[in-house]
Amino acid sequence: MTQSQSADVDQRIVRPPATALVIFGASGDLTSRKLIPALCNLAEDQYLPEHFIVIGSSRSKLSDEDFRAKVLEGVKKHSRRPISPAVWEAFARNLHYQPLDGEKPEDFEALKQRLEALTAPHGVRFNYVYYLAMAPQFFGPIASNLKEVGLIEDYSKEARQTSVVVEKPFGHDLESARELNRVIRQSLAEEQIYRIDHYLGKETVQNILVFRFANGIFEPLWNRKYVDHIQISVCEDIGIGTRAAYFDQNGILRDIVQNHVLQMLALLCIEPPISLSDADSIRDEKAKVLRSIKRMTPEEVRENTVRAQYVAGTVDSETVAGYREEKGVAESSSTDSYVGLKLEIDNWRWSGVPIYIRAGKRLPKRITEITIFFNKAPDSLFKGRNIGELEHNVLSIQVQPKEGMSLRISSKPPGPRMRVRPVEMDFTYDSSFGVASPEAYERLLLDVMKGDATLFTRNDEIEESWDLLAPIFEAWSGPNPPPLYEYKAGTWGPPEADQLLAPMKHTWRKL
Ligand code: BG6
Repeated sequence: MTQSQSADVDQRIVRPPATALVIFGASGDLTSRKLIPALCNLAEDQYLPEHFIVIGSSRSKLSDEDFRAKVLEGVKKHSRRPISPAVWEAFARNLHYQPLDGEKPEDFEALKQRLEALTAPHGVRFNYVYYLAMAPQFFGPIASNLKEVGLIEDYSKEARQTSVVVEKPFGHDLESARELNRVIRQSLAEEQIYRIDHYLGKETVQNILVFRFANGIFEPLWNRKYVDHIQISVCEDIGIGTRAAYFDQNGILRDIVQNHVLQMLALLCIEPPISLSDADSIRDEKAKVLRSIKRMTPEEVRENTVRAQYVAGTVDSETVAGYREEKGVAESSSTDSYVGLKLEIDNWRWSGVPIYIRAGKRLPKRITEITIFFNKAPDSLFKGRNIGELEHNVLSIQVQPKEGMSLRISSKPPGPRMRVRPVEMDFTYDSSFGVASPEAYERLLLDVMKGDATLFTRNDEIEESWDLLAPIFEAWSGPNPPPLYEYKAGTWGPPEADQLLAPMKHTWRKL
């Protein structure tokens, strides 16, 4: 498809109905770094509803003007492309601020009046989207206060659509996730809750479905008969920055694996859903995959998991501190900044296929990749030709930063001798589509305004993810925990992580 054709298709996009978006926690980082820049990019593409207002809300006492000035800084710094002054001005006219304490019912009355005053002049009924960009302990009080003043209507097809977007972390473990869900379900129906996992909004992650189900050639190979093993790597060069208070309580297994990695894995391994156009078809299949992942015994936790922490080292020619020296981290912290895992999906399609996962901070570079290693061809025809062992065909889906895919195949280099060399067939979004991919938050905000929950995580998926990690947390914090290894910042993690793959003679893919 050429660039102009793809633009034509995009222009046919149906704009969401009239929407008032209220962001709770609006003075925080997420609003300036992600949410407002995403909305501005949607405005730039004319994807926002014709009638649209945003109210930022938090405890800080800001005027509309203060709030606009604050988030404009964020837009300038973090938007994926410059926003034209005319688009910003039109957008900013609909951007407001309302101070609010999430635990004070009277503040919700004031919010209600503000919403009514701002929406009334439009003369149309507005849907309400509440974005909870804040710590989970506030989800319950905010939802119940919204409900109390009538800002959440009971769910029905006829009622005003009211949606609540909740950010991760959704709980700290299975118990707390269940409790959180119980609390918010007192005020909301499941259909009104949008649990965001921004990885599901990434183009390359959405493409997993198209790639698998819109091509005839891969699906027959997508199973234990042809797949040797799978690797998923989420590597970051950054440390924990200013987020010690959050990260040190959670660690990388909770921060990245419980949500982003398991969601990518689930999409990669689902059975064909019965439809792509209702949210539950895909979510049903994802939940089944998560449910099929083998739960580990304490012994298996020792064999199949490796956790580690970075010590001082060099990343991108810069000397950086070790994890325990980071500001806000306790000297004796045993929080994992790296994790390696070996999982198995114990179902008909995948049984026996090892799935290796690694995620870490302060690795040499930022790269997220899903890699499928297919079975090797028998080398009988090439025996005695001194070409070494044949290699796996490898399909790699690069989620970021260089969005694209590649397939490694064996080929004969030119010349009189019969030799075999691997070559890569690849495509990048950049060169094939000629347009920059939107940020994940753009797609997800648009979907919630349209009432499409396909790319949001359902409660049972969250519970399954916590459930399958529970034995690991238990063993790690138990009386005789497996070791916490070290790795130097700027390296690919602890050498012990190689041992996860060694029994099957596998090695981590070089990234
Ligand atoms: C967040 C984690 O969910 O994802 C962060 O809390 C992490 O620790 C971030 O850095 C990574 O997101 P992305 O889109 O940059 O890969």
